Parts: sequence; C-alpha cells; structure tokens
Amino acid sequence: MNIRLAPSILAADFAALGDAVAAAEQGGADLIHVDVMDGHFVPNLTVGPLVVRSLKRVARVPIDVHLMITDPDRYAEAFAKAGASMVSVHVEVLPHLNRTVAFLKELGVKAGVAINPATPLASLEEIAPDVDYVLVMSVNPGFGGQAFLPRTESKIRSLRAMLDAAGNAAPIEVDGGIDLGTVGSVVGAGAEILVAGSSIFHTPDIAAAARALRSAAERAATPAGRTR
Ligand code: DX5
Ligand code: ZN
Repeated sequence: MNIRLAPSILAADFAALGDAVAAAEQGGADLIHVDVMDGHFVPNLTVGPLVVRSLKRVARVPIDVHLMITDPDRYAEAFAKAGASMVSVHVEVLPHLNRTVAFLKELGVKAGVAINPATPLASLEEIAPDVDYVLVMSVNPGFGGQAFLPRTESKIRSLRAMLDAAGNAAPIEVDGGIDLGTVGSVVGAGAEILVAGSSIFHTPDIAAAARALRSAAERAATPAGRTR
C-alpha cells in the first residue's frame, strides 16, 4: 500500500492558506486537497481555479482537486491549467462519465471518480478499468467537520475487490470524518489516500496533527495492523 495524506484546506484559515499548506507539508502531507463547491451539487460555495493557481505557487506537493459541482466538464480544464495534478468528478452528475474520464486524462491530470454515500458502487462497474483513482465519500459532501459514516468501510472493501477484478490497481481515496479514531478502519479496508480537514487544521499544531494521522495510517497499513 502507498499511503498518502491529503489535508483538506476547507478546514484551514482562508486568510492564511499559504501558512496552512506549509504546516501541513511539514507534517508529512503528500497532497493538498481542495474542495470545490458550486452551491448546486452541494449546499455550499467555496473556491475556483484562481485559488488553485495561488496554491500551486506555494505548494511543494501535488494538488488534488475535488469537484463537487454539477458541470465538471465545463470547468475541469481551468483547474488543470491552474495546476491541479489530480481532479475528481462525481458520478452522480455525469451521464457520460467515460467521456469525462478520457477528457481529464487528455488534460494531463489523474482522473478520479467520486461517489456519494448513498450512491451504489454498481454505478462504477463499467468505468472501473479506466479510473486513475476513486474517491469514496464517507460523509454527505458540502461541509467539513461531519461524522464519519461507518458503512463506508464495507464500501471500500467491495470497491477494492471491484477494481482488482477489473485489473486496476488504482488507489481508493476516502473523504470525510477521517481522524485518529477512523483512519485505521478505512486503511484496513483498503483506502490509500486519506483526506482530512478538521482533524488536521482545527488543532493547535497542524504539523503535529498531520504527522500523527499519517503514522496511524501507516501503522494500519502494515501487515500486522491490517484487518483484511
Ligand atoms: C466534504 C469535503 C471534505 C471535507 C473533509 O464535502 O469533500 O473534503 O473537507 O473535512 P473533514 O475532514 O472535516 O470531514
Ligand atoms: Zn473533498
């Protein structure tokens, strides 16, 4: 397993994003997760490509953009140009997901498909061979600081089996309510990219919180700590 920690700046101080990124990187962040919300697909508004462009100037690790928007086909290119290395789009809004995934790859970014808690995994079956990663939502998207939904664990396990059966070693990313209490179970189930907002940025020492979460994930990924 290749554990990667992706701190979500949604929980950071937007007046000091550069400092937040630096602290997260100091604590071992492998990616910086940016939550893009349009007020339609989710009941909240956040940031656009301009902010990604600024983050790109200061970040030393790749930027992972999570598009919680109804029309990702329209905006994906702007995020790629702004410096995103990974872009995920929601299966719930895309009738031609195959085309969108191919388009993301043409843009030169890693193509991720995100899936909400209530969306069945079957909606990913046909695209499973083609994705670069799958983002499993472990809360209903829109806000940080929500409680982890425990059913996510079995969903990750089934998704890992589905990807393996499709011959695709693409990593699974998990997003929402990830902290020291939940990280072990999702890693044990097969998640490799761990998004965490509140548990990193709503703490007195961002670097220390990131470091602790990353080591807990690494411990759960070692054969002795694995539950599968
Ligand atoms: C939720 C976002 C998440 C969120 C995670 O809509 O996609 O990335 O910021 O935040 P926490 O870790 O606070 O649940
Ligand atoms: Zn996210």
